[in-house]
Amino acid sequence: MKNLLSMKDLTIDEISAILDRAAMLKRYGIRALPQKYMVSNLFFEPSTRTKMSFEVAEKKLGLETIPFEAGSSSAVKGETLYDTLRTLEEIGLDAVVIRHPEERYYEDLVGKMKMAIINGGDGSGQHPTQSLLDLYTIKETLGGFKGLNVLIAGDISHSRVAKSNADALTKLGANVKFLCPPEWAGDFPYVSDWEEVIYTSDVVMLLRVQHERHDGKMRFTKEEYHEKYGLTVEREREMKPGSIIMHPAPVNRDVEIAGSLVECSRSMIYKQVENGVYIRAAILETILQKEELAWERSSRVHM
Ligand code: CP
Repeated sequence: MKNLLSMKDLTIDEISAILDRAAMLKRYGIRALPQKYMVSNLFFEPSTRTKMSFEVAEKKLGLETIPFEAGSSSAVKGETLYDTLRTLEEIGLDAVVIRHPEERYYEDLVGKMKMAIINGGDGSGQHPTQSLLDLYTIKETLGGFKGLNVLIAGDISHSRVAKSNADALTKLGANVKFLCPPEWAGDFPYVSDWEEVIYTSDVVMLLRVQHERHDGKMRFTKEEYHEKYGLTVEREREMKPGSIIMHPAPVNRDVEIAGSLVECSRSMIYKQVENGVYIRAAILETILQKEELAWERSSRVHM
């Protein structure tokens, strides 16, 4: 794997290898790589979890993380993303993590860089590292994917998490359904009534209402949205025994999910954050250290 851009590009074997490697890192700890690599995290959109968990994973792997602040970089003077990356490559970076508002920003870069690119989220396109940590959390909690009923609820058309997880979970044999207002369904078939899905879902994955991508237009008040499309306290009581709640976060409390459910016993929201460090370390290792990983694969932990 040279780059990680979209869950569409990953085979089932590649997904399994990353999940198994993350399990090994979680069990035995993340250790410094024998060789020094230089990486940078280029975030042109806000982030807490993705950026900081990459920083923690990079520190534990003994990588040199070169700081980059989009707002004080020459991108502000109009330098293109391609020219920025070519510059960083000549400076000596081995890999970059990029979050960018433009969907598929990476299409203009692939094949033109020696440096590896890890997509930390492209507009409403894909968020593969979030998807891999979500897959890890599902497998760790429920044991696998085949035949699992996964409900993705909320702002589907604006969500890179929804698209990445729909691609990956379907590939892995899960049954994925969507619940949302009609105008946020995009091309996905959807339901609007919780009664159709709440009793049978093994995973209820809520999505943040992405106000920043709505041009200020929303036909619901927060209370109306919560009542019709949110996971309310009453709906949680109807969930299947053993089923789990997920959310990539940040959370709009009492909008897509009742605030009191964020840390309830079914909720994996903070477990997802914890697992993000192991998944991101596994991705960095896989991309930077292909040969060593091939050697280690024979002794890897199977989830
Ligand atoms: N889930 C996620 O991508 O969170 P951040 O925007 O905080 O990175």
